[in-house]
Parts: sequence; C-alpha cells; structure tokens
Amino acid sequence: MQNMELTEILRCPRTGNKLRFDDCDKIVHVADSDMEYPVVDGIIDFCHGASDKVSRAYDKVADRYDTLLSKPKVPHRIINTLVWGIGDDRPYIETVLSYLPNQFDGILLDVPVGTGIFTSPIYTRYPKATIIGIDLSMSMLRKSRECFERDGLRKVVLLKADVNNLPLRNDVVDLILSMNGWHAFTDKQRAIAEIRRVLCTQGTLIACGYVKGTRKISDWFVKHFGVPRGFFNPPFFELDDVPSQFKGFTVIRQANVQSMAYFEAIKEE
Ligand SMILES: C[S@@+](CC[C@H](N)C(=O)[O-])C[C@H]1O[C@@H](n2cnc3c(N)ncnc32)[C@H](O)[C@@H]1O
Repeated sequence: MQNMELTEILRCPRTGNKLRFDDCDKIVHVADSDMEYPVVDGIIDFCHGASDKVSRAYDKVADRYDTLLSKPKVPHRIINTLVWGIGDDRPYIETVLSYLPNQFDGILLDVPVGTGIFTSPIYTRYPKATIIGIDLSMSMLRKSRECFERDGLRKVVLLKADVNNLPLRNDVVDLILSMNGWHAFTDKQRAIAEIRRVLCTQGTLIACGYVKGTRKISDWFVKHFGVPRGFFNPPFFELDDVPSQFKGFTVIRQANVQSMAYFEAIKEE
C-alpha cells in the first residue's frame, strides 16, 4: 500500500479527520480520535459491521457476476435480448470505457469498482496512476482484488465504503469512473454531491447506468426483479434528465443503448 501518498488522499468518512496506518497495515487509525478501521485482506473496511440490502444482494452474486456479464451463455443472451434489447453488455461497456484516456498518471477513482472485470485491462495502461476502487460489497471487492492481481495490478487501493460518504479529501481526484452505479445507489443526489466533492475542478467524470422510460420490458424487469432484490434502487433517472441530475457538471458527450445511458462530464468551478 502506498501509505505516504494515501494519507494525503484519504480521510475518515465520519469525522473528515486524517488517517494513519499502523506499522503492519492491519488497522487505520483516525487522527485526534479513538476511532479505527480494520484492513481486511488488504481492503480498508470503512463500513465495518454495517449490513444493508444492497451490499448483501451484490455479495450473493459476486462469484457469478463476471460470467453473467462478460461471458453470457446462450440462455442469458436470449433473456438479455428480451429484457434489455442487447444480448451482450460488452459492446456497450467497451464504448463507455473508450471514453477513458489512453494514458493517465493522476488519481483515478472507480466507484463502484465491482469485480474489476471490465476495467482491469484498461488500468494496466496506467502504471503510474494511483487507482482507488470503492464498493459497498466486500465480496465484489475481493473478486476485484483477484482480477487486478491476475493482471499484475498490485497497487490498486481497494476500499469498502459508501459512495454517499466517500473516505476521500476534497478535490483530490482527477478522473472518476462510475460504471453501472447510479441505478444501484440509494441516495443518488448525495452520491453525485460526494463524487463532485472529491473530484478536482475541471476533473472528468465518466458514468453510465440504467434509465427508466426508454424500454417498457426493461422497466418492468427492474421494477419486479431488480428492485425487490436490491440490485436497482429507485427513483430512477430518465434519459433526458441525466445531465440536469449531475449538478455542477458540464456534460460534454452523452449517448445511450436502449435503457443504458452514458456520458462524459467535467466538474465546473
Ligand atoms: C452493477 S454493479 C457495477 C460494478 C462495476 N462498476 C461494473 O460495471 O461491472 C453495482 C455495484 O455498486 C455497488 N454499490 C451499490 N451501492 C453502493 C454504494 N452506496 N456505495 C458503493 N458501492 C455501491 C454494488 O456493491 C455493486 O458492486
């Protein structure tokens, strides 16, 4: 772990105080308080002991997530085509990822990082960058650590934390990727405000997610399957609202494939 640099970037999500690592990297202490956070398998757990429906839902599917999304079998492709109008998520995700720069050596925040299945190959292009992956699900984070390590990315900093309360200082991040997150986030306006808080002025946000109102069967599926299980959480954006929901950002390009919308935006002054 790059402790020296990290202590300049991170902060306690509850108090905003500075953090200090113990000598064995097992515990993170909060400056000027008795609080501390455990480091579990190299992942700092800022939500220790918390249990919520969303992280439990994703914990349960973490082992199957990569196969479902990156190598869907024929029955899944058929279901995907019926429900989403696209048999395979990969082409749409590749388009979103093509918004990322070819070279990058600043601070990148990936929230929610998920299992890293789509982003890991891209991050291998950024050997000098500081990459921070945040997610609420420890099982998804563990999968991402395996994935990053397989690709030789040993320095990605993984944090179990809530997007609504990011453990990062103000204006420290240069680039934020938020893939397939906004439909899962329970408090979207708070998540957007937090993303904006940690991003530097003129920093870039690349985001994508489900929007309601473009495909009836997708909306029906989300309402009857996604929401009760905790994978999707209302209220949902509609396609035309997306730029206005991201207050304090200027959207510079935007597109959608069926019910999945994506954009690139710059943080305004
Ligand atoms: C559909 S997955 C997307 C993962 C990855 N970005 C991708 O595209 O494969 C949604 C992720 O959001 C995470 N998540 C949901 N609510 C969150 C929150 N409040 N804070 C951080 N992560 C959250 C879930 O644990 C899950 O891993």
